[in-house]
Amino acid sequence: MSKNLGELAGRKGFHANLFESLGVAAQETGTPSRERMEELSKEFLMGKANVFGTASFYDFLKEDNKGKKVYVCNGSACLTAGTQDALKEKLGAAFAADEIGEMCCLGRCHENSAFNYKGTNYSGNAAEKIQEIKKQPSKIEDSYTVASYGTAVLTATFSTIKEYYQTLASALKQSPETLLAGLKESGLRGRGGAGFPIAFKLESCRNTAGNQKFIVCNADEGDPGAYSDRYLMEHQPHSILLGMMIAGYIAGADTGVLYIRAEYPESQLVMQQAIDDLVKENLLGDHILGSAFCFKFKLIRAMGAYICGEETALLSSIEGQRPEVRVRPPYPTQEGLFNKPTVVNNVETLACIPYIIQHGGKQFASIGKGKSTGTKLVSLDGYFKKPGIYEVDMGTPLDMVVNELGGGFTAKIKAMHIGGPLGGLVPVHKIKDLTVDFESFNQNGFLLGHASIVCIPEHFPLIDYLEHLFAFTAHESCGKCFPCRLGSTRGYELINKARTSDYKIERQLMNDLVETMETGSLCALGGGLPLPIKNAMQYIDEELKPYFKS
Ligand SMILES: Cc1cc2nc3c(=O)[nH]c(=O)nc-3n(C[C@H](O)[C@H](O)[C@H](O)COP(=O)(O)O)c2cc1C
Ligand code: SF4
Repeated sequence: MSKNLGELAGRKGFHANLFESLGVAAQETGTPSRERMEELSKEFLMGKANVFGTASFYDFLKEDNKGKKVYVCNGSACLTAGTQDALKEKLGAAFAADEIGEMCCLGRCHENSAFNYKGTNYSGNAAEKIQEIKKQPSKIEDSYTVASYGTAVLTATFSTIKEYYQTLASALKQSPETLLAGLKESGLRGRGGAGFPIAFKLESCRNTAGNQKFIVCNADEGDPGAYSDRYLMEHQPHSILLGMMIAGYIAGADTGVLYIRAEYPESQLVMQQAIDDLVKENLLGDHILGSAFCFKFKLIRAMGAYICGEETALLSSIEGQRPEVRVRPPYPTQEGLFNKPTVVNNVETLACIPYIIQHGGKQFASIGKGKSTGTKLVSLDGYFKKPGIYEVDMGTPLDMVVNELGGGFTAKIKAMHIGGPLGGLVPVHKIKDLTVDFESFNQNGFLLGHASIVCIPEHFPLIDYLEHLFAFTAHESCGKCFPCRLGSTRGYELINKARTSDYKIERQLMNDLVETMETGSLCALGGGLPLPIKNAMQYIDEELKPYFKS
């Protein structure tokens, strides 16, 4: 069924896109009207249930969004920073309670107190000026440290667009096979979480027959605590675009799609401007730089759903379908966007490609440790003395990142949640055992993920944090499989009951629940949540004992 819908959506392609049309229809009141949804179902030849099903999925399309004017960040870093109750109170002076909604992680984890008003993000002390902002919304730049320790692959500045795109000119003089061999040699692995080598995806897409192919940039950076993709989009947009173009040349794709989350309005603006600049420079379209290579970009503005970061849900989202995770095979490189061969890669992965073309795969492979080649961006939250984005060679000791680059903590910290909500909870005594690379984290029972660090201070109850993780998963579950859909809600209920009454959780019941989620879930949302829960029960058990039957 969804395959047919994908085919149908593909007929209109990007000339008319159902997902975008729903976004436009929601602009005035926060949700598309029933009448408009019926019109859209006719226009796109989709059943009404499909269109309603899609609209009701997203935070910024669903009925509950109606009338919301300002959104408070409910991400993990703002939660553990404890800034959001005071923020709500301040905003309450300017907005009615039912005008205040929530957004999940605005990527302002370095200064917290984050909120969004009329498509602009604010954080730090901005709420003090809410009356002025309400009269005239204005951009208030946030500031955070950006530094590299080791090789600057992603944080280096480039001189001019023209000079930078000479890399494209030199790439187009080489065959796609030669460039693919260079990428293989570089050992570049996906930075979006799973660490899959990009060269294999490009090769698979290249070898799949198809009259149209796509490169999709996954800019849904939904992991609360992560803002490294945001940094790249707002400060290094051309590294991403150039990376996508070279990936397109290798895979035989002529269209690059950027799927950027709703919570990053500034990133959307900067990326669109960068695309427009390329058009002005005549670096997009047909026969680029006199070659046979043709390429164009399409930017899709997401509508608020964490699961759309999962690559198959993301593709369904672009097609205007309910973004449920797809069963693989077929893999996106075989049947992806509109059922066409598609490579989906994370922002940071794609942004590494220009460096590899400029310096060679061997040079990239010489940075890092073992099978974790190159560098990694790490996002540090507001509990660090020097919060910000740090680029480190893979294999850099975590202790160096925390205590030297980040300058240590501003409060007593008991654990760090590294790699997003599905990453491990690293107790502070384990910091010395870890290095920033895929293998070190795996071998120690954690997950590097996107390498975001959210600190949990001593004073923040761990039980509250675990409840937050179950609630997050229950809210974001696409609902396709039972272990995740039911398990996350049951887990939330158990913890909430133990936290708010004298009820004690049976340890075996919790163990069974997380085991069922871990082994029975279709994707890493339900399958990944058990990791931090198990880490908490293993390493910080003393604090949790009062909530469990002995
Ligand atoms: C629940 C869930 C959320 C995800 N969110 C993201 C995301 O926000 N950004 C991202 O690049 N990958 C995300 N992923 C991983 C993608 O499915 C996919 O592996 C990735 O985009 C591939 O790119 P890469 O190989 O460059 O890492 C998520 C996966 C899951 C299961
Ligand atoms: S694990 Fe959760 S998010 Fe993933 S497919 Fe199953 S229900 Fe959907």
